[in-house]
Amino acid sequence: MSRPLSDTKLLMSDVVIRAENLGKKYIIGHQAERERYVALRDVIARNVGNFGRSLRDIVRGAANVAGDELEEFWALKNVNFEISRGDVVGIIGRNGAGKSTLLKVLSRITEPSEGRVEIKGRVASLLEVGTGFHPELTGRENIYLNGAILGMRRDEIKRKFDEIVAFSEIEKFLDTPVKRYSSGMYVRLAFAVAAHLEPEILVVDEVLAVGDAEFQKKCLGKMQDVAGHGRTVLFVSHNMGAVRALCKTAFLLRNGRLVSIGDTMAISAEYAAGSAGSSWQEVGPSEKPYAIRSAFLELLPHDLLRVTLDVASAAPKRLIVNALLQDAVGAPVGMASLGGYDPDQLVDLSEGESVIAFDVRLPALANGRYRVDVNLEEPYGHFLDHVTGELEFAVDRTPRNNHGRVLDVRWGAGCIELASATQIATPRGSDNSALSQATSSAPETCIS
Ligand SMILES: Nc1ncnc2c1ncn2[C@@H]1O[C@H](COP(=O)(O)OP(=O)(O)OP(=O)(O)O)[C@@H](O)[C@H]1O
Ligand SMILES: [Mg+2]
Repeated sequence: MSRPLSDTKLLMSDVVIRAENLGKKYIIGHQAERERYVALRDVIARNVGNFGRSLRDIVRGAANVAGDELEEFWALKNVNFEISRGDVVGIIGRNGAGKSTLLKVLSRITEPSEGRVEIKGRVASLLEVGTGFHPELTGRENIYLNGAILGMRRDEIKRKFDEIVAFSEIEKFLDTPVKRYSSGMYVRLAFAVAAHLEPEILVVDEVLAVGDAEFQKKCLGKMQDVAGHGRTVLFVSHNMGAVRALCKTAFLLRNGRLVSIGDTMAISAEYAAGSAGSSWQEVGPSEKPYAIRSAFLELLPHDLLRVTLDVASAAPKRLIVNALLQDAVGAPVGMASLGGYDPDQLVDLSEGESVIAFDVRLPALANGRYRVDVNLEEPYGHFLDHVTGELEFAVDRTPRNNHGRVLDVRWGAGCIELASATQIATPRGSDNSALSQATSSAPETCIS
């Protein structure tokens, strides 16, 4: 690279993580036809002489059974980047893109198959539930164990101990082995440990999803705090609101390739553009005291539509956020609201920039394109700001059990697939007085 020497020197001293040509390869086995369900006893029976090796393979998650086709699979390939001290980086990408694999390689939980990583400083990572803690040890013992792994002295850990316990809110279970913890309790303690033991680099995977909403908020606050103290944070999440609230820089992974690095706003827009279910809109600077700066739509699994807004506020305020769902030509379909129907859901904005994110549970929408307009409103007052006409998403459902059809907006039968209740069999000519009473005043209908 032709960078002036002084620049390079500065950069060199500041870089805390450098990945060069990083790759991670897995060998995956496709089981031969009619051998889909291979039980351990089958493997033993077939490979008596080779039992030890096969068992080891199974333990590693690679059942190598005679007849299997083995295939190389690159979960990460050609990944190059540098992260400087104090950078707060969001890592985004679709399921299976390689995000967790990257964090595992950086946390030295798994070895790269090629390339290398250099890391300066103590890394504390919070990856999937099950890593980092010893299941047989109690919460208290695990706190000390983790501190020791991070290279802290016993008195240093002791000083942090109360903070960790207070943050995790699991005081009652401190002396219970963590294998008895619920996944929520486990994550609470694991996060508290990782964030409070003063790592130089904090690596957090999507585990926050396990905690309840209040705890997630607390964790985001704590990560902001850690970042604010000049620590380096790497954060993987599907929650664009959280990523955008926390991270200035984002990495976009696609099929194991690091396809973009840049400002979180731009990268999340690129991510949205790459998936049919999402849309993003940036709104220019506004004179309004309460203004939507940008809005982001994302269609999640299980028919959830996530709306994320960046809002700038001149003063603290309680307000209503409405999301109006329309079909492609602008005919209204329905409206979701935070605070509009239920005052308990009013949004509390603090002064400055904030992110408002909420999920809307969609009905069985017909396949087609939809628009969402969003507006901010005062309770019983006037409109404050809105985003109109730009946020779009597409519904493309597959038929139930892969047969039948899904209602399509082009059929002109509306936007919502109404579910039919159980079929009522009424044999022709039967004396069903309840039915005849109910239908006596209605025009005769014939169901064939
Ligand atoms: N131990 C393993 N053996 C084989 N394949 C693996 C292993 N771990 C991960 N993979 C594969 O590597 C790819 C990347 O997985 P990874 O968990 O990094 O994705 P991700 O981006 O974290 O996805 P998600 O958003 O679903 O958490 C996936 O296709 C996954 O199936
Ligand atoms: Mg993952």
